[in-house]
Amino acid sequence: MELSDYLAAAVADGKADASLAAVIERLALAAGRIDRMVQMNGFDGDLGRETGDVNADGDCQKALDVRAEEVVVDALSCPQVAVILSEEKDDPIMGSEGGDFIVALDPIDGSSNISVNMTIGTIFSILPASGGLLQKGRNQLAAGFFAYGPQTTLILTLAESREAISFIRHPDDGAFVRVGGASIVAPKTKEIAINAAYAQHWFAPMKKWMNDTLGAKKYRLRWTGSMVADAWRIFQRGGVFLYPPDCRDGNTQGRLRLIYEANPIALLIEASGGKASDGMVAILDIQPTDLHERVPLYFGASDEIDRIEHEHSNTGS
Ligand code: F6P
Repeated sequence: MELSDYLAAAVADGKADASLAAVIERLALAAGRIDRMVQMNGFDGDLGRETGDVNADGDCQKALDVRAEEVVVDALSCPQVAVILSEEKDDPIMGSEGGDFIVALDPIDGSSNISVNMTIGTIFSILPASGGLLQKGRNQLAAGFFAYGPQTTLILTLAESREAISFIRHPDDGAFVRVGGASIVAPKTKEIAINAAYAQHWFAPMKKWMNDTLGAKKYRLRWTGSMVADAWRIFQRGGVFLYPPDCRDGNTQGRLRLIYEANPIALLIEASGGKASDGMVAILDIQPTDLHERVPLYFGASDEIDRIEHEHSNTGS
């Protein structure tokens, strides 16, 4: 089944409006164009080169960040989209007056990995325009991400469907084709994704969790440096992803962004039976106070997330 058929069925079942489906189709078109750019990297320039600019979050922008954002913003110039929030921009990008949706985007997650031919991706979150710019993730109508790797993939959840569905882009005709059943993230895992190089900077709950985990001597470590790549793996075979806050400058509230990264992943993970938390509360229940706010992010296997929350309530954050 192709993405367009999946969306048509969701519209027929009352799980999505036709206008929401249209926005998702436009995102898929943009992903196809970005995929082509990624495939052509090195042939027609170096997309991994730094532009010399710093984005709204203080990260050095790569050429790919800028080009991918242009592609997605162009694709979303349509009557349905009232506002685009981009991780790359300080301010909202105004779209069509009377549009139904706000689309929050990380045009390229993990952009430094373009230079080493590793998986990178585009993350999106679709919210009702009527809710204003700073909405809880619980309000999302749909969310997902495209991953550009050995295969180009999409995982999508429609809030009303309560399932996360995986698609692979067919190299011949560019259609996103559904693969497998709905994603199920099991409560237990032996696979953890964390940048353990920062261990000395972590706060007490994370140190305690890691000590207990390593003490159990049965975990495997997996970390790509692209959240989308780690997340795709977790949606396919389980696991847990941890980006705790630490005492380095700029990281005391975590590294990942609530609106552009944590919320869409959290909607997907809850639809898959897993959990996403900042250590204290569900990511989806956090009221954003700033478009670019960062958040500690723990998601995946629910037993591990419970254990992390337990450490926070015992040791404090
Ligand atoms: O968006 C931030 C990001 O690139 C994620 O994709 C990734 O998981 C993380 O940062 C990597 O951070 P670090 O380089 O600190 O391990």
